[in-house]
Amino acid sequence: MSPDHMGAFRASVLLTWVIICNNVLCPVLGYLYNNRYAGDQVFKITPSNDEEVRTLREILGHMKVDFWQPNSASLICHNATVDVHVKRNDTQGLHARLKWENIDYQVFISNLQKEIEKQTGYRSSRKRRSEAQYDYEVYHSLEEIQSWMFMMNTTHPNLVDVFSVGKSYEGRPLYVLQLGKKRRLQKKAVWIDCGVHAREWIGPAFCQWFVKEAINSYQYDSVMTRLLNQLNFYIMPVFNVDGYRFSWITDRFWRKTRSKNHKFHCRGVDANRNWKVKWCDEGASSHPCDDTYCGPFPESEPEVKAVAKFLRKHKKRVEAYISIHAYAQMLLYPYSYKYATIPNFNCVESAAHNAVTALYSAYGVKYRYGPASTTLYVSSGSSIDWAYRNGIPYAFAFELRDTGYFGFLLPESLIKPTCTETMRAVKAIASGVLKKCKTDREKFPYI
Ligand SMILES: *[C@@H]1O[C@H](CO)[C@@H](O)[C@H](O)[C@H]1NC(C)=O
Ligand SMILES: *[C@@H]1O[C@H](CO)[C@@H](O)[C@H](O)[C@H]1NC(C)=O
Ligand SMILES: *[C@@H]1O[C@H](CO)[C@@H](O)[C@H](O)[C@H]1NC(C)=O
Ligand SMILES: [Zn+2]
Repeated sequence: MSPDHMGAFRASVLLTWVIICNNVLCPVLGYLYNNRYAGDQVFKITPSNDEEVRTLREILGHMKVDFWQPNSASLICHNATVDVHVKRNDTQGLHARLKWENIDYQVFISNLQKEIEKQTGYRSSRKRRSEAQYDYEVYHSLEEIQSWMFMMNTTHPNLVDVFSVGKSYEGRPLYVLQLGKKRRLQKKAVWIDCGVHAREWIGPAFCQWFVKEAINSYQYDSVMTRLLNQLNFYIMPVFNVDGYRFSWITDRFWRKTRSKNHKFHCRGVDANRNWKVKWCDEGASSHPCDDTYCGPFPESEPEVKAVAKFLRKHKKRVEAYISIHAYAQMLLYPYSYKYATIPNFNCVESAAHNAVTALYSAYGVKYRYGPASTTLYVSSGSSIDWAYRNGIPYAFAFELRDTGYFGFLLPESLIKPTCTETMRAVKAIASGVLKKCKTDREKFPYI
């Protein structure tokens, strides 16, 4: 090859690479994460009495494990199984220790890297085939999700308005998609956020699914038509934008934001424990390296601060706050930080019951539901408590599929059924908002 040809060849290779990078390969390459999970395992451990709970807390508390369920060693209780992701060098030790202590366990992912790669091949081939049309049955990068929001903003000006409520720690816009027939008068509103925790990829997939389904069924489905005519939905597909991007490219199991702590090497805050309500109480951690780190002060994270500001400004109109998480198959409402019954319990309980029944009607998937404190565990300062305290009478957190078979690696083939059933539940909650239930808003805040 002559130097000229060589140069042209290089340029074309480079160009091809850039194009491929924008569309298909880059996220996939990133997705392999440099083999960093080779040999890692995910254990499912079932402590059967208080003694075993104590032992397990001690063992796992001292190891550098990545808690999948529950979120930290202190939240282990005798009722629930514990899912932990263990680095390859620690797996042998943990096997031996659990056998020695006679604690019941199984390994549900025996090589995490393989499990990730299994899902990756499938994904890249699907993406290639569906360039023109947006594919709602794959997970998308942050950039793709943002382009999708702009596209919806352009193609559905009668129902959609996209705007930013602030900037993330790393300077990315925090986009919210307003969905509903535009009217001059102020409408009641429902807030839905997804992707508060970076690794819960099914969340952002659901937020996008919700928008697509709502728009497609407007003027065909009478319930949805009424909802879009009478309500505004504020939908935030990716709350923790920096964390989501980091989990996409660098560390699949990243959960927190990406803010920097100057005293420690560890980055990020649990965006669900950074709210200004019983801040950093039970269940949260004050140590920056923990996955449940509450941050240096309430609303220290720009993402939390921006959303809190938006909701405060619109709280008179916002009747329901819904936060989408994974995994556990639960529908939770306040309080999460204390064992007490909320004043409008009857309204909220019946809304939850209707939601879970609607969800079940799709594929027979069962959800547990109830106050977060008793259903999950007492946990501090979660956003539902904050929303409730600020006068939003219906505040829910969903923990979507599954119950720990795939955990955070819910395959793309399950996006459709998961979103379809969740859509029914959210529709039920939104429909309930339009009905009168005796919720005396004068009595807020109660907390
Ligand atoms: C869970 O714990 C509560 C209280 O400790 C108890 O009442 C309940 O029966 C337990 N459930 C299971 C499935 O063990
Ligand atoms: C794991 O063990 C290998 C070999 O025993 C060692 O080279 C590596 O540094 C260890 N990794 C960690 C994270 O400790
Ligand atoms: C969405 O569209 C409206 C016009 O309908 C425009 O004013 C607004 O800037 C758009 N949002 C974004 C984020 O581009
Ligand atoms: Zn979560």
